[in-house]
Amino acid sequence: PNVNNQNKTSKDQQLEQFTVDNDGKNLTTNQGLNVSEDEHSLKVGERGPTLMEDFHFREKMTHFDHERIPERIVHARGFGAHGYFQVYESMKDYTKAKFLQDPSVVTPVFVRFSTVAGSRGSADTVRDVRGFATKFYTEEGNYDLVGNNMPVFFIQDAMKFPDFIHAVKPEPHNEIPQAQSAHDTFWDFVVHNTESAHMIMWAMSDRSLPRSFRMMEGFGVHTFRFLNEEGKAHFVKFHWKPVLGTHSLLWDETQKLAGKDPDFNRRDLWDAIESGNYPEYEFGVQMIPEEAEFDFNFDILDPTKVWPEEIIPVKIIGKMTLNRNTDNFFAETEQIAFHPGHVVPGIDFTNDPLLQGRLFSYTDTQLSRLGGPNFHEIPINRSVAPVHNNQRDGMHRMTINKGPVSYHKNGIAGNTPKPVPPEKGGYEHYTEKVEGRKVQARSDSFKDHFSQAAMFWNSMSDVEKMHIVSAFQFELGKVQRKEIRQQVVDLFAHVDSDLATRISEGIGTIPPQTSGSASSESSPALSMMNTVKLPLT
Ligand code: HEM
Repeated sequence: PNVNNQNKTSKDQQLEQFTVDNDGKNLTTNQGLNVSEDEHSLKVGERGPTLMEDFHFREKMTHFDHERIPERIVHARGFGAHGYFQVYESMKDYTKAKFLQDPSVVTPVFVRFSTVAGSRGSADTVRDVRGFATKFYTEEGNYDLVGNNMPVFFIQDAMKFPDFIHAVKPEPHNEIPQAQSAHDTFWDFVVHNTESAHMIMWAMSDRSLPRSFRMMEGFGVHTFRFLNEEGKAHFVKFHWKPVLGTHSLLWDETQKLAGKDPDFNRRDLWDAIESGNYPEYEFGVQMIPEEAEFDFNFDILDPTKVWPEEIIPVKIIGKMTLNRNTDNFFAETEQIAFHPGHVVPGIDFTNDPLLQGRLFSYTDTQLSRLGGPNFHEIPINRSVAPVHNNQRDGMHRMTINKGPVSYHKNGIAGNTPKPVPPEKGGYEHYTEKVEGRKVQARSDSFKDHFSQAAMFWNSMSDVEKMHIVSAFQFELGKVQRKEIRQQVVDLFAHVDSDLATRISEGIGTIPPQTSGSASSESSPALSMMNTVKLPLT
């Protein structure tokens, strides 16, 4: 229903209204005035000074002077493409989200892949997490799944995010991204925030070196909530599975490519789409009924934990195809604004403390990155569902809302937008029962930092283990302070003593001084459950 005869989605058609074709047109100023001279400024005499009066020169230069906007505070380097999503079967038993009901409904999407730490001009093939952010332009408004290519995260509480990013980014005094001291800050953060151990295992693995954005998994990371028409809730985790499979580069390849072709991943995506070789990703969900929340020996709201797929299988429910490159990188990829808080009826949040903090951060940063409160009017950010409310004014306002009034329940015009009851599709927050004291603390159920890190290590083949050990050695080899190197070795003995011993070789440290290995206590996936009952029937 969203696609017309030319296979254009509703979003394609919307964007076309904003596309300008300059081909063969008159050159004008921004005021529409035809310009007769575009190479020589207005001067007093042929060899004299330029005149302030030259409005065309002033406008051209002023606009150029302001071409740059701040890059994203994280995920600054990214690359995006258009596409569409279709569900394979109705998910109505679990969620009332309209775009997940009907296999014939085509939902337009825009996806932006990114690295996290590097600046906008950094190389593609660095050891880093990759962002995998999807905006679904649904008939009920925009739904954003702002995920990564790894299923867990470094920290459990958003309060730590600025500290974490400060430890990852170049240091304030010299801004040298690969300075040895920058490695000191990152690893120093890790040893003082042991909840990062599981994510570090992923980051040191080949998952950090994707061969192609087309061959990369995606994860929503957090636990979200599905709600069906009857109000029944399921906890849900989201997955993207690339149809081409998951493939990585070798470390040596990444090093050479970063020098010879720093745009390796973005070029690959662009070329694949240009040649009609459209990247595809299947969409999967893991679901746990609300009443099974405490059936596991890890906290299902802890973003440093996976839900082992052996006990909570990934149900594949649909497919996304990326089939159109951007017309304008800045207008689309750079100006798109994702936000985990952009949801549609049938999808809700949980009390994952990392997610809760993200719900604040994204709009806040975009207010300065995109220059004020009206960035939802930028073409790439516009919903294809109609937008009506009493908000008005602000920097760069495009919409001309008709007066005379802009407040609710007024007795003058009486025609301002009205709230929509939930049964007619108005968003209703889940009425979760919550009670407790106000505390600044972490639940004990979040305090196991090593079992799943060990599970990850134990699931690796010998070659993959070798790559992980080499990655630790390379990264730690750049850490100047010996005591930090030693602390990392000792920390990872909690994950696996063989891993820690192997890391310690060749980086000027001694084998771990901390004995014991979490792997001896964990490993089989079923030990992750408190009960034998499988949560999904
Ligand atoms: C981008 C904050 C955790 C995925 C961003 C941006 C901020 C931010 C401020 C820049 C947004 C912009 O300028 O438009 C945070 C905070 C986090 C957090 C405070 C934790 C408390 C995560 C996690 C994931 C994630 C856990 C993955 C599940 C992304 C992605 C982008 C991004 C993919 C880039 C979006 C794009 O392509 O434009 N984040 N983030 N972030 N974040 Fe997070």
